[in-house]
Order: sequence, then structure tokens, then C-alpha cells
Amino acid sequence: MKKIAVFASGNGSNFQVLAEQFPVEFVFSDHHDAYVLKRAEKLGVKSYSFELKDFADKAAYETALVQLLDQHQIDLVVLAGYMKIVARTLLDKYEGRMINIHPAYLPEFPGAHGIEDAWAAGVKESGVTIHWVDSGIDSGQIIRQKRVPRLATDSLATFEERIHQMEYALYPEVLESLGIERLAK
Ligand code: GAR
Repeated sequence: MKKIAVFASGNGSNFQVLAEQFPVEFVFSDHHDAYVLKRAEKLGVKSYSFELKDFADKAAYETALVQLLDQHQIDLVVLAGYMKIVARTLLDKYEGRMINIHPAYLPEFPGAHGIEDAWAAGVKESGVTIHWVDSGIDSGQIIRQKRVPRLATDSLATFEERIHQMEYALYPEVLESLGIERLAK
């Protein structure tokens, strides 16, 4: 059975949706106080966190991540709101085995504020994209993407919520398509 690890920096709602449907070997957060770590505890999923500032540089930080992934023999790294750019140390070992979810229809609105940027641009529709991770910012090969409309009655909050609901539907579908087995019911 293929093993997955999820990386998340903050809230972790995507992690929660995945952990309710798939066995997650562990979750990693780059912030000790991230809410995702509380979700992991409640769900009984192993978690780790360490912060970039505790290492000499990003290469040393990512070396620790590679060790963790290797120790757990992870087949697929699932980024779900992991807000750091993945650098060479991690990519050298895990490129081709790492995917990301982005809350916009790439190549539209890459970066850390995909939802807000689409909203500010006044689009009629945005979307959700799941892609392989490469050395660029949200530039890797697209696996799957879907459009999400922006309604005339939307506030930023309702628009954001519709995008998140699409994320929660799409990420499990993509994991399954990549051969990740669901939890037995
Ligand atoms: C998600 O919308 C995810 O697509 C986005 O962060 C949010 C995390 O929410 N990621 C990016 O913007 C990456 N560029 P969550 O922590 O509740 O899953």
C-alpha cells in the first residue's frame, strides 16, 4: 500500500478531509502552533513540526524533512496549504512524488493569495488546481483542475467557501487516481 504524508502550515481543513478518507502516515507542519496539529491529535494521526528558524538554512531544514520522509518510506508527499516554496534539497529527492493543491485555476493567480487575487481581479470564475511540484511557484505539471464560479451575490467569504468545497471534493479524487487506497469502512 502506498504511504502518504501531508504537509500543512496552518488551518489544515484539507488535511482533515484527506485523513478522514485515507490512511495518512503523518502530517508535518512548519509552525509549532498550527491548528492542523490539533486536528491531527483529534484524528489520531502522527504529527511532526519543526520551524525553518531552528535550522542554519533552508537546506538543513529540508534535509531534516527528507530524513523524516525516508524513515517513514513515504511514496507521495501531499502539500495541503504548505506555504513554503519547496527548494532543491527536497525536490532532488521527492520531485515526481510530491503534489500540491492551489485555490485558483493555474496558471491564473499563482502564489500565496490565489483566492483573494482572483476576487480582487473581479473574475467571473476561478477554480482549483492540483499539480506536481517543481522548482517554480505553482508551475508544475497539472494533474487536474476544475472551474468554480463567482456569483453576483458572493462575498469574498462565500466565494472562498465555494473554492474550499471544490478542494475537498477534488483532492480525494486525485489521490485515488494516483493509486492511494482509501481507508477501509
Ligand atoms: C487551501 O485553500 C490551499 O489550496 C491553499 O491554502 C489553503 C489551506 O487551507 N494553498 C495555497 O494557497 C498554496 N499556494 P487549509 O489549511 O484549511 O487546508
